[in-house]
Amino acid sequence: MPNTPPTPSPRIIQLPRIYDPRGSLSLVEECRQVPFPIARVYWIYDVPAGEERGAHSHRELHQLLVAVAGSFDIELFDGFSTERHTLNRPFTGLHLQPGVWSKMTNFSSGCVVMSIVSAPYDEAEYIRDYEEFLQIAAANGPILNPAKPQ
Ligand code: TYD
Repeated sequence: MPNTPPTPSPRIIQLPRIYDPRGSLSLVEECRQVPFPIARVYWIYDVPAGEERGAHSHRELHQLLVAVAGSFDIELFDGFSTERHTLNRPFTGLHLQPGVWSKMTNFSSGCVVMSIVSAPYDEAEYIRDYEEFLQIAAANGPILNPAKPQ
């Protein structure tokens, strides 16, 4: 997979941080920090060392991923360009758009990934077949860097 992320990525969303001597608090609000209506929240945890997750795309679903504890790496590919991010702050979200293939790796011990998503679970909405993804991606055109010449 070719190439380089723009920095800072428009996909990284800094969330509010409210801290005082008792500790810190972060939050998301529908259609504010989360740029879509929220239909579902799920979280991933107890990932064994060396395991990978994701390796799929979505037809319509928007997601905001937050490492609420620990850290993980995520690689994004839209059929044209690749971006890699490390999420390791409970106040930093990654907006994952439909049509982008994502793979999550390097989960730290104790990592908890919160995923805030735009629709109820629907297996038919996943693209898990990589060849099918490549065909859809070619038809969609660039998503990660839409202005970049092909
Ligand atoms: P999957 O989306 O493949 O996980 P990941 O993207 O982390 O690799 O989901 C794993 C399993 O959990 C799969 O059998 C579908 C099921 N699942 C639900 O039943 N409901 C949900 O909301 C989600 C996200 C997954």
